[in-house]
Amino acid sequence: MGCTVLAGGQWGDEGKGKIISALALKDEPSAIARAGVGPNAGHTIYYKGKKLGLREIPCGFVQEKAELYIGAGVLVDPEVFFKEIDATGTKGRIFVDKRCTIITPEHKRLDLAPDLKGKIGTTGTGCGPANSDRALRRAKLAQEVPELAEFLADVPVEVNKFLDKKKDVLVEGTQGSLLSLYYGYEYPFVTSKDTNASTFAADVGIGPRRVDEVIVVFKSYPSRVGNGPFPSQMTKERANELGIHEYGTVTGRERASGEFDFDLARYSCMLNSATQIAITCLDYVDRSITGASEAKQLTPKAKAFVDKVEKELKVPVTLLGTGPETNHIIDLRDEKL
Ligand code: GTP
Ligand code: IMP
Ligand code: MG
Repeated sequence: MGCTVLAGGQWGDEGKGKIISALALKDEPSAIARAGVGPNAGHTIYYKGKKLGLREIPCGFVQEKAELYIGAGVLVDPEVFFKEIDATGTKGRIFVDKRCTIITPEHKRLDLAPDLKGKIGTTGTGCGPANSDRALRRAKLAQEVPELAEFLADVPVEVNKFLDKKKDVLVEGTQGSLLSLYYGYEYPFVTSKDTNASTFAADVGIGPRRVDEVIVVFKSYPSRVGNGPFPSQMTKERANELGIHEYGTVTGRERASGEFDFDLARYSCMLNSATQIAITCLDYVDRSITGASEAKQLTPKAKAFVDKVEKELKVPVTLLGTGPETNHIIDLRDEKL
């Protein structure tokens, strides 16, 4: 496995958290590092019967043997971080890069402005204003927060040490390609940073030649929250017919749903140099496979969808989500790779 980077291929909320938690349990990586923008993302996972929406701590924490890292590219809201340490019990194995940008109450206040929360539909979590301060070289860093002292690390040194020792490292991206500040669909209705695999590797200090696998996660019926164009958006009636009712993990806002857009998905595979694809919510395509965990449980309808994605995107589809819980997954890697 070596170094695997996991990225979203649509507008975020593809179910990356669920895929990460399943891979963390199955592949037992030694280190799991969170990349991406910051606490604007919410990764939903199920842990010991409880539903968690994690915004700072890597979802791979479910693998209790793994060391956990937050890369320097990730914004840290100390309030969220400490709350999640309590919820996950990860103190002692979670480390934050000393150079992470800190989100302050002022950043959160500024993010509620009419041109941000109003026009763009930002999450209001302070991410854009904090990244702006970082670019202006006036941001506060994690090493300046006394309460974070015991968690600080030089994350690139730590994660590269694992790779030197031939240990596996999993990099957990957030958001999705179509929310990228540069390549998203489309500016200004995007987040405050690039959200593709190369940036996720850079966020945690791993150089491009050390990345072995890039898994891009797509949802069978993509969703979008906030404002901005959604060319394949479906009507509410169709979403109801399909039984899709999704709400944002961070903001609680209703997510709009759409049809799978092969052209945009192909573009995301290119941006990320995808080596594998994970499809989540395959149970929306055929409800009868809900909770399936073996390839032989796939119905012709579900299989036809997977085959079409593979044929159109020319990347092996190796992981299939069949429900929200960690074990609702079909792993085809032995067959496909
Ligand atoms: P961001 O980093 O914020 O983009 O989030 P994410 O990609 O981790 O996704 P998020 O958890 O916000 O949203 C995905 C939703 O789909 C959650 O409610 C998950 O519990 C759910 N989910 C994930 N995989 C599956 C699946 O295979 N089937 C079904 N039915 N639900 C799933
Ligand atoms: P911001 O990242 O909070 O500035 O929000 C900018 C845009 O990105 C808005 O449309 C948000 O809804 C969207 N966005 C940011 N993070 C996520 C995420 O994790 N999932 C889905 N949408 C997101
Ligand atoms: Mg989310």
